[in-house]
This record gives sequence, structure tokens and C-alpha cells, in this order.
Amino acid sequence: MPDSRAIVILTGAGISAESGLETFRSADGLWANHRIEDVCTPEALARDAALVHRFYDLRREALATVVPNAAHDALARLERAWAGDVLIVTQNVDDLHERAGSRTIIHMHGELNSALCAACDRREPWSGSLPPGAVCPSCGAPRLRPDIVFFGEIPYQMERIEEALAGASLFASIGTSGAVYPAAGFVRMARSMGVETLELNLEPSAGSGWFDDCRHGPASLLVPRWVDELLAQP
Ligand code: APR
Repeated sequence: MPDSRAIVILTGAGISAESGLETFRSADGLWANHRIEDVCTPEALARDAALVHRFYDLRREALATVVPNAAHDALARLERAWAGDVLIVTQNVDDLHERAGSRTIIHMHGELNSALCAACDRREPWSGSLPPGAVCPSCGAPRLRPDIVFFGEIPYQMERIEEALAGASLFASIGTSGAVYPAAGFVRMARSMGVETLELNLEPSAGSGWFDDCRHGPASLLVPRWVDELLAQP
């Protein structure tokens, strides 16, 4: 049964764009300058670990140069002030939601500030460079890799995400192109369970037609306004 107040929020690279982090599919985005098959597949890691590790080292380093924007801040404010649960399901691997103060976050595509042991599957907080062959502090194997869900791998916590969607009264999608599944299918899953759906994005996305309401513009303007609107409700 939907909780009359639970909100599930999916975020994508667009929510971090105004903080200065590149998106993936814009004209000058990450996938315009790097081939996915070179840096974001298990085969790439097996073929050229140094290139893959370096790609994520550079993105991890970039985190130190950016700060959350008004959209991240507004979602943290919503979580603090809203009467029901607020869950952020982010496709982003940056830590800007955490740094804005959000607490209930699922990084379904992994995190830059984490390392995954390919031998024992443990995940370790990680900052700084992560060279190939780095030793796992849990099992001692030289098998640490970036904790990024590559194309062809299974996103994290899918069961928990689907349960949250089933129990929500509102699903909002912010700053994502709707190009990659399973995240791109959440709106249809929500609709099929009678959950209200809203898209906040710079421009219409691949999934816009599935949303009850679509608002287009920069997240740093749209998201604070939306949060103000929600919190003004009786
Ligand atoms: N405000 C709101 N939306 C924005 C802004 C902004 N300032 N800038 C860009 N956008 C929107 C774009 O219009 C686009 O729809 O953000 C979206 C970014 O789309 P992508 O670059 O495809 O990023 P994302 O949707 O997060 O990609 C999903 O694909 O490659 C994989 O794992 C990667 O998590 C990523 C997934």
C-alpha cells in the first residue's frame, strides 16, 4: 500500500551539471570524449586496467573541485522537513547528495569514493588514486577496482528500489536522459503501481511521455521551487 507521504527521487548527471561535473550524453559529455567500451565495461577492465583506473581516478579527483548546487541542497532540505520517507536513488557516482546533507541515498551505479574487491566483493571507502593491483584491506588480494557498476553488470540494491517504488506516493526523476535501464524503466514501474510521476529535466527526456507532469529547465531553479511547493502543502 503506498505510504501517503513516501517520495522516491531518481537523479542523474543533470543534477550535478551546474556543480561543474560533466554529464554523459551532452555534446561535450563524457561519452563524447571516451568510448564506453574503453572505460565502462568488464572487458575494458580486463584489457587495460590502467586506462580504466585512471579514468575514474581523474573523476574522483574532480570531486574536490566541485560543491553541491541548489538542487542537491533542496533535496536535503526536503528530507529534513518532509513528514514521510524521502529516498534518493542516484545513478551518479559523485558524493554531492551526501555533501548537501541528504542521508537516505542509494548509489545504484556505485561510487567514486569507494573501491570494490573483485576477489571478496567487499566495498571499501576510497579517496585518492586507486592503481591496478591495489590490495584489498579485507582479504589481502591485489584485486581492488573502481566501485562502479559497468555496462553489463547488475546495479546495486534493485530489490530495495523496487520495494520503495511500490510503497511511494510520488516518484520524481531529476536530471536524467532516460537512456539507460533499469533506471529508465522506474517511471513505468511507478505508474503501473498507481504512483504519481514527475520529471524535472533541462529538456524532454526519452521517457518524458510516461510522466504525469514534466517541467523543463535547470535543476538549480526547478528543484528548489518544487521542494517549496511540496513543503507548502497542508
Ligand atoms: N538541469 C537539469 N537537467 C540537466 C541539466 C541541468 N542543469 N544539464 C543537463 N541536464 C539533463 C540533460 O538534458 C540530460 O537529459 O541531464 C540529463 C543527463 O543525461 P545523461 O548525460 O545521459 O546522464 P544520465 O541520464 O545520468 O546517464 C545515465 O548512463 O552512462 C550511464 O552510468 C551512466 O549513470 C549514467 C547513466
